[in-house]
Amino acid sequence: MEFFLDTADVDEIREIAAWGILDGVTTNPSLIKKSGRDFKEVVREIAGICSGPISAEVTAMDTEGMIAQGLALKADLPDNVIIKIPCTAEGLAATKVLNEKGIDTNVTLVFSAAQALMAAKAGATYVSPFIGRIDDTGHDGMNLIAEIMEVWASYDITTKVLAASIRHPTHVLQCIQLGAHTATMPAKIFRQLMKHPLTDKGLEGFLKDWAAVEAAGNA
Ligand code: E4P
Repeated sequence: MEFFLDTADVDEIREIAAWGILDGVTTNPSLIKKSGRDFKEVVREIAGICSGPISAEVTAMDTEGMIAQGLALKADLPDNVIIKIPCTAEGLAATKVLNEKGIDTNVTLVFSAAQALMAAKAGATYVSPFIGRIDDTGHDGMNLIAEIMEVWASYDITTKVLAASIRHPTHVLQCIQLGAHTATMPAKIFRQLMKHPLTDKGLEGFLKDWAAVEAAGNA
């Protein structure tokens, strides 16, 4: 399973990349706004830190505009940048054209299994169902991941399911159990996933005992 960071904060990306398990990064216009930096400049820097796929989102609403923005981003930015496209009818058409040109895409803002399947048929490299935003409406976002994985099991689909809008470590664990190919999450969740009080307690005990071994001259 791939673990992506969902941020445009290069300090966080450097921190998690140093763990050796970062497979990619997703950005969106809101995350770029939060970074306070120039879009292309920050995506270029991210692509230099993490060699995996880095999603850069188009903002045009029409197919021709999305294709033009996607091609311009691919021309200007490092090879590992992929094009994030909204899950609309215009976005499907743009995904199909970019796929035919050999450009990888991430179809985002997916809220139903039907949308996910249509994006896959258009040739999306990734589809991004948003779990947390469904939870926010009072429904269970994880059901969407389950539905999509069930559909994927019935057909020969190469598109990867990229679970997005992840809000807590349990979301990640459930995605792993359901067989989602990828999860994108904030740095805070990477840290939470690695933290366990028994690891800390066990380490504290080992270090204390090792100090006693050293004090006895037996190290
Ligand atoms: C995914 O690619 C999106 O950037 C992201 O997961 C959205 O998450 P949010 O609902 O926390 O904004």
